[in-house]
Amino acid sequence: MVVVKTIKELKDLLNSFGENRKVGFVPTMGALHAGHVSLIERCVNENEVSVVSIFVNPTQFNDKKDLEKYPRTLDADCKLLEGKGVDIIFAPAVEEMYPEEDKRVFDFSPLDKVMEGKCRPGHFNGVAQIVSKLFDAVNPDRAYFGEKDFQQVAIIKEMVHQLRYDIEIKACPIKREDDGLALSSRNSLLSPEERSQAVNISKALFASKKYADTHTVDETKSYVESLIAESPLLKTEYFTIVDGDTLQDIKNWEDTDFAVGCIAVFCGNIRLIDNIKYKE
Ligand code: PAF
Repeated sequence: MVVVKTIKELKDLLNSFGENRKVGFVPTMGALHAGHVSLIERCVNENEVSVVSIFVNPTQFNDKKDLEKYPRTLDADCKLLEGKGVDIIFAPAVEEMYPEEDKRVFDFSPLDKVMEGKCRPGHFNGVAQIVSKLFDAVNPDRAYFGEKDFQQVAIIKEMVHQLRYDIEIKACPIKREDDGLALSSRNSLLSPEERSQAVNISKALFASKKYADTHTVDETKSYVESLIAESPLLKTEYFTIVDGDTLQDIKNWEDTDFAVGCIAVFCGNIRLIDNIKYKE
């Protein structure tokens, strides 16, 4: 496993593996946890060469404070990946990825007009900027993304379509703590009290799956919101039930064969997201 910091080193190293080998890629912002490890293990199993990028991308943070407090743990991340079969860790500095301002403006409408796109203006533009730059640098055959960021996966697929990348996007299921909390790099920022209430997000989603069998979409939304409201440290930013392909709200369960409930909750000052599939 080699750690490289520049695109030139990355490309030289990739060339040294020769042609006709499948390259798998897992883009991350570091602070790696078991969720990332599961993506990385899948990538290693399915490809001859595996690249993991670790880069906290400033252009996808619409809140400066959020960017500042985002955990940065490169040494621990590299340690965690040792022996896992990763060939290259690409850990560039901001100047390497943005030698000048990236002025590109993407339009993923209507996918980017809802949920995270609505609450975090510019977020997906920043994600598309960095992921396209990383795709150009790595030139992978397959790229792996976690379904916790359900909307991100849909937007990356749309970006691949719009920019005509020949890259297979692999969406991987959410990994959870034993008590159900979705794994996230942000979980490390929770105080013990916040952590004990954060689990009520996934508990509400799981409970709603059964509830949804006998209730309407609107009733199910209210049910989740009321369960979350029982925890004083949790504040729901949005909970919505969407068609998993178009990401647009559904009104009735019959509106789609693929219904997904997506939630963003502040736990104290830490913003957490999660989702659950009601129909697929
Ligand atoms: O999901 C993430 O960690 C980030 O949005 C990504 C895809 C690595 C781009 O910075």
